[in-house]
Amino acid sequence: MDIRIFSTANELSAFTAQEIIELVRARKSSNRTCVLGLAAGATPVAVYQNLVRLHRQGQSFANVVTFNLDEFYPMPPNSPHSFSRFMRENFLNLVDLDPANIHEFDGSLRNHGVAEFCERYGRAIAGAGGIDLQLLGIGRNGHIGFNEPGAARTSRTRLVNLDTVTRRDARDSFGADEVPHQAITMGIGSILSARRILLLAVGRHKTAILAKALDGAVTDKVPASFLQKHPCASAYLDRTAAERLARVNQSL
Ligand code: F6R
Repeated sequence: MDIRIFSTANELSAFTAQEIIELVRARKSSNRTCVLGLAAGATPVAVYQNLVRLHRQGQSFANVVTFNLDEFYPMPPNSPHSFSRFMRENFLNLVDLDPANIHEFDGSLRNHGVAEFCERYGRAIAGAGGIDLQLLGIGRNGHIGFNEPGAARTSRTRLVNLDTVTRRDARDSFGADEVPHQAITMGIGSILSARRILLLAVGRHKTAILAKALDGAVTDKVPASFLQKHPCASAYLDRTAAERLARVNQSL
């Protein structure tokens, strides 16, 4: 897996946004849509800010189709904790995306409707031609999306139970509200079907898990380790996050 280390999180974010824009432009010049899979969370916020800035400087997203990566469940769409709301407020509503091109999870569905919704989500991704570029963060337990330790390599979009580490880490942003016990997520198989994958990580709290995910064995105990087998996945890290990586230690 290709690993690129940046001096600062700002540089990482600007570089990532530029890569996304170049793909959007390349697809536009051949009259095609560009299909993006989008992660929520703290790490990609500055990427979205860069994309919005580029939009204000004239970059169009009219040929872009988006698929959110995951959502807590249950979760009303307008809750301050909703990833769908997060994506709309940080990116989707701030650029010229066609609302028909935006795909998000409905965390307010009744339980019996979730499986069918997930089926349709998978079909919508296939119908859009598959994901051109998938943005990912990584949890301290190695999760990608909400594919927690133990998730199968071939898993598809589905309802999952959240791991205690994930729920504990979410507590800061949930404050007094209870963190849901479940989530809907694209599966590892769905993520690995993307043609290009960018795993972003910054900060000391990601150092230990990145050493396992990028240098360790490929195992369902660390779901992000499955990315090692993807033909076109890169990890973009800041220096702190990369500190314990055996392969890059010497260049730090
Ligand atoms: C978010 C998601 C999660 C986060 C991960 C890291 O859509 O799927 O896997 O990417 O938990 O979160 P942050 O970026 O907040 O450290």
